Amino acid sequence: MELYEYTELQSRLEAIAAFDDMSDDAMLQELVDQLRPYLRNVIGTTIGKGGEGKTTLATNLAYMLAEEQALRDAQGKSAKPVLYMELDANGDGRTDFGLDATVFNDHGKSLREAITNDKPLKVVKNVRPFLDTTISGRHCGDIAARITKLSDAHSLAAYLMLALLLAQISHLYRWIVLDFAPGDKAIQRTGVAAATHLVSPIHNTDNAAIRGLGAITRLIKTNRRLNPEVELAAIAFLGFRKVKGEPTTELTNVRDKIKKLLAESGMDPDLILDDYVRDARSIATLCRNHGKPAREFALAATGQLKDADGQLVPRPRDENGRYVDAEQTIKLADDYSQLARGVISRVRQRNAKLREMQMQGAS
Ligand SMILES: Nc1ncnc2c1ncn2[C@@H]1O[C@H](COP(=O)(O)OP(=O)(O)O)[C@@H](O)[C@H]1O
Ligand SMILES: [Mg+2]
Repeated sequence: MELYEYTELQSRLEAIAAFDDMSDDAMLQELVDQLRPYLRNVIGTTIGKGGEGKTTLATNLAYMLAEEQALRDAQGKSAKPVLYMELDANGDGRTDFGLDATVFNDHGKSLREAITNDKPLKVVKNVRPFLDTTISGRHCGDIAARITKLSDAHSLAAYLMLALLLAQISHLYRWIVLDFAPGDKAIQRTGVAAATHLVSPIHNTDNAAIRGLGAITRLIKTNRRLNPEVELAAIAFLGFRKVKGEPTTELTNVRDKIKKLLAESGMDPDLILDDYVRDARSIATLCRNHGKPAREFALAATGQLKDADGQLVPRPRDENGRYVDAEQTIKLADDYSQLARGVISRVRQRNAKLREMQMQGAS
């Protein structure tokens, strides 16, 4: 694990400098068209509502994708690292990887400066094998206001600051997982402009989650000029009971309800992934408190996790001092493996289509 700075980046502020209220659509379209092919490996997790499990989903997805790359590498196949980036001021993503009490924790300051002020992008390299991460935190709370200020001068182009940044490093990563919260329009726009695929978690069964999905589809539609390619690629259910490996009526009911709503709003009901993550609140909380994604926590709980020096990590205990239930942690981790596979297969299908369309457009 080490801090790494991308210093040779081209100025994003210069790229948007020529844009103002008077600049024509064609100019923006040209820039967007240039960026698009470089951003097809950017997967955003978002939903128009907090506490749905965006960060839990995003950190586990990033971890699973990195594990796959590490495995490919071990088999002598081509492999690239994965980058996880959270734009949220709560810094939960940083916590999920156990980075709170480390020298790397600048509470999101360098990330804010990289996105809004042309500063070098700092990443924690090899936070896990084949996984890099940026650090989020309270300073990320200023990103929205700064982007909004830039948009006063440079209109819509201001929302391309992150896209312009990621497009310069995307070739170094197999996947970039972007975790961005609702709350501010500027953040939503910035995230939607940079991602090509969106994945939305649904955790609560109330209508707010469903409204959240509506908010995302509106966001996609209203920001077409910033991103003609982005679509919701998958909806993932998180935190629903499994009995003998099967869903209960609680989930099948919500699923039917959401399928109906998707169909009514002209969206594909099959966006909903068959695989879902079981209800495991206490383990999910322990994972976060221990700074470990589910798979890694399962390895620790079964006494198989080694630290950087090759020493076995002691088996984790719960708040009552008892050993964590290893079987449950393995089941939770397996759910995430399945889910990650589902997400990636959707993303690959979409990318194949996008490449096809691009070739047709070129010929
Ligand atoms: N499998 C699960 N079962 C039940 N609760 C979960 C599960 N995974 C995560 N949670 C809980 O969901 C809550 C929201 O998670 P988080 O990822 O921080 O949401 P967001 O990023 O959308 O705000 C957390 O309190 C977490 O413990
Ligand atoms: Mg979060």
